[in-house]
Amino acid sequence: MDGFEPKIIAFFCNWCSYAGADLAGIGRLQYPPNIRIIRLMCSGRVDEVMILEAFDRGADGVLVCGCHPGECHYMKGNLSARRRVMGLKCLLGTIGIDRDRLRLEWVGASEGPKAAQTISSFTQSVRQLGPSPLRSDQVSSMITAALEV
Ligand code: FES
Repeated sequence: MDGFEPKIIAFFCNWCSYAGADLAGIGRLQYPPNIRIIRLMCSGRVDEVMILEAFDRGADGVLVCGCHPGECHYMKGNLSARRRVMGLKCLLGTIGIDRDRLRLEWVGASEGPKAAQTISSFTQSVRQLGPSPLRSDQVSSMITAALEV
């Protein structure tokens, strides 16, 4: 899709993924500016409502990043995140949102290059998918009108 630049919301855990993205920035590694990172203490804090809210508010893609398995600072928060994301991917497919618009990755605190690469590849993937069907102003205005009745 020519000229389309996706809006990406990312939920990064504080201890590993956010530190990894920070390291990418310190190392001046390039990644697309399409992403807005929301820092959470643990990827286990991310739930289905937060992800759906991001799509509802206009995100074309949602990226969840946490510590590698076995390295979560809250024991198994990342495994909870994985379970939720996998479950939600199935739901997204059934409501017409391409499941590839949601991705989960593990990024460690020392993995600046992986953070940059993950952001770049996800942005490129969503760019190829085009705008989210939920971005339609028409859908939004129909729902707003229905709620006002
Ligand atoms: S603290 Fe990083 S995923 Fe739990």
